[in-house]
Amino acid sequence: MTVPLVIVGCGGHGREILTIARAVNATIGRPRWQLLGFVDDRPSEVNLKRVQRLDVPYLGGTTWLAEAPPDTHHVVGVGDPRIRRAVADRVDRYGVAAASLVHPDATLGPDLRHGPGLVAFAGTRVTTNVTVGRHVHLNQNCTVGHDCVLADHVSVNPLASISGECRLDEGVLVGTNAAVLQGLRVGRDSTVGAGACVVRDVPEGVVVKGVPAR
Ligand SMILES: CC(C)(COP(=O)(O)OP(=O)(O)OC[C@H]1O[C@@H](n2cnc3c(N)ncnc32)[C@H](O)[C@@H]1OP(=O)(O)O)[C@@H](O)C(=O)NCCC(=O)NCCS
Repeated sequence: MTVPLVIVGCGGHGREILTIARAVNATIGRPRWQLLGFVDDRPSEVNLKRVQRLDVPYLGGTTWLAEAPPDTHHVVGVGDPRIRRAVADRVDRYGVAAASLVHPDATLGPDLRHGPGLVAFAGTRVTTNVTVGRHVHLNQNCTVGHDCVLADHVSVNPLASISGECRLDEGVLVGTNAAVLQGLRVGRDSTVGAGACVVRDVPEGVVVKGVPAR
């Protein structure tokens, strides 16, 4: 079945997600995703030009979704977890379902449980008994170990490594190439800086960085 897809956000992250949809289509040899285009309430001129080069139309602001064709799905192409949450909440009012996109070169454990809007980029590795919420984005070459729970709107950036039995609360960002050691919890809306190594629980609403992360 071919599913019409709209990407919310013309920025780099949204355009990277387009490449996932295209990779899925190319791998299965038929159009699983019919790319209707991008919506964005405040696209920059430079990003509109970049979208144009990808041969996918810019459809307009998010209100475009109010008149979307039946069965249209959307994916929120915003990298920052808290901005993604705000955009997802705005888009929810149009009743357009959220798609989950998994690059063919991602490996997800067969017992993964996930909410709508999951995006798994190329090289993502998720092992066993992992639970992820809504609009969770797993970026290129990140790993998520056994028995982890990632709440809604979490982002794991490229090359970051989440060890087994961790819990990342709602809106957490784990920066590029960071590590969270086994069994630890990162509190709601906290940020783990790029390259950090988290060695103890992180409270909510803070930024930690460095090795060990402080
Ligand atoms: C940690 C982080 C959130 C801090 O952001 P910020 O508050 O804007 O910090 P600033 O850039 O103003 O830097 C503040 C200080 O922290 C240092 N710093 C910034 N990021 C750091 C990091 N990841 N590790 C160690 N030190 C860092 C800066 O050198 C600066 O030090 P100084 O005060 O001695 O000059 C951010 O740098 C980061 O790592 N975010 C992750 C983003 C990511 O993964 N990007 C990739 C997207 S694919």
